[in-house]
Amino acid sequence: MGSKVLLVGMGAREHAVAWKLRQSPRVDEVFIAPGNAGTALVGTNIPVQPKDIDGLAKAAKAHGIDFYLATMDDPQPLGLVDRLTAEGILCYGPTRAAARLESSKEWSKEFMVRHGIRTAAARSFTDYREACAYVESLNDRPCVVKSSGLAAGKGVIVCNGTRDALEALDIAMVRRDFGSAGDTVLIEQRLYGWETSSHAFCDGKTAAMMPFSTDYKRAQDGDKGLNTGGMGAYSPSKLVTKEMAEEVRREVVERTLAGMAAEGAPFSGTLFPGLMVSADGAYVLEYNARFGDPETQALMMRLESDLFEVCHAAAQQRLHEVEVRWKAEPAVGVVMCSAGYPATYKLGYVIRGLDTVDPDVQVFHAGTKNDERGIVTNGGRVLTVVATGPTIEDARAKAYDNVRRIEYTDAYYRKDVGLV
Ligand code: AMP
Ligand code: GLY
Repeated sequence: MGSKVLLVGMGAREHAVAWKLRQSPRVDEVFIAPGNAGTALVGTNIPVQPKDIDGLAKAAKAHGIDFYLATMDDPQPLGLVDRLTAEGILCYGPTRAAARLESSKEWSKEFMVRHGIRTAAARSFTDYREACAYVESLNDRPCVVKSSGLAAGKGVIVCNGTRDALEALDIAMVRRDFGSAGDTVLIEQRLYGWETSSHAFCDGKTAAMMPFSTDYKRAQDGDKGLNTGGMGAYSPSKLVTKEMAEEVRREVVERTLAGMAAEGAPFSGTLFPGLMVSADGAYVLEYNARFGDPETQALMMRLESDLFEVCHAAAQQRLHEVEVRWKAEPAVGVVMCSAGYPATYKLGYVIRGLDTVDPDVQVFHAGTKNDERGIVTNGGRVLTVVATGPTIEDARAKAYDNVRRIEYTDAYYRKDVGLV
């Protein structure tokens, strides 16, 4: 008998993971809480929200789920893995203690310092006036103000000097735009360079690196406009050399695993350090304790191995027994969203043309739902269209060719995904 797998989330990332899991002969059924119109095509949606740990645990029991694969950040800091494990369900994902790598920037910064993992120098503050005094003492040097807690990908303000930084402190600590995430803020040295996403399957001791990927965070072409959840991604990242990949594996991922194990919180699940590569090498900007979105949409198209087998082995501390194989072909994923995102936008427009995409191109859904008219828009980010090809340029051309076949009112996407 095959496995019944639980995913939690409603993004194109979850659709991509569910799609990949369905290719495994060892998976009977994939349940997605709460899912979207796309996940309903490859699995069974369960109407439970990601932070409702009791609801998720009950649903897991009711549906006979035997494996949980963590993809999004919300449930782990609330202890979903600890809870399901206690109930006898095998989990690929960090415990509450291990999820601190992502859920507290203050803790993870101190962790990196303890274990010699390269990151921007930072100080943390809980007192607004002390934070302001520190900013003044920087003499107008560029810095970054980060709210320590989870702030849904926001909460980081990059500052050019004193004026920006004081305003950022006001936003986080006085206006409290990021809520309790701003109880503690980090003020860190601003780094310059280019960014790349590293992902690794981890089983507490062993890591298997995924190919590097690059995401496009800002709303408009040329990296202009507001920060978003991600407007597109491609893999492999063009600028990452073999040497650099090896250094990240050794100096970041393996050190992190060894450090977490030594501190009594071994890390199981997907570790995703966001990196800034400066002239003197790679720095960790932040840890994510989950899969990236939209990076995962591109990565799942390149994974040759059985995702279930890899994650299942990792959950049993047997990652060293499996070989994780990747296709050489690059993948480019373009996010189609609703005009106005990430600020205000309208919902409920019928999506047409989904049946006209090429069979080897995947359309992963995010903000979509079914109503009596068919599949309609239901969020800021609506779809990720992913294509592969012999080169990044081919994959990019194919992805955009297919994007143009999909139509809905207010459709908006960046035109430069895959162009560096
Ligand atoms: P984070 O959520 O910590 O990854 O930060 C979000 C974005 O802010 C990153 O992707 C970077 O573009 C930027 N950022 C974060 N930390 C720094 C830093 N120390 N120097 C420059 N940019 C940064
Ligand atoms: N794409 C960045 C993230 O998932 O946090």
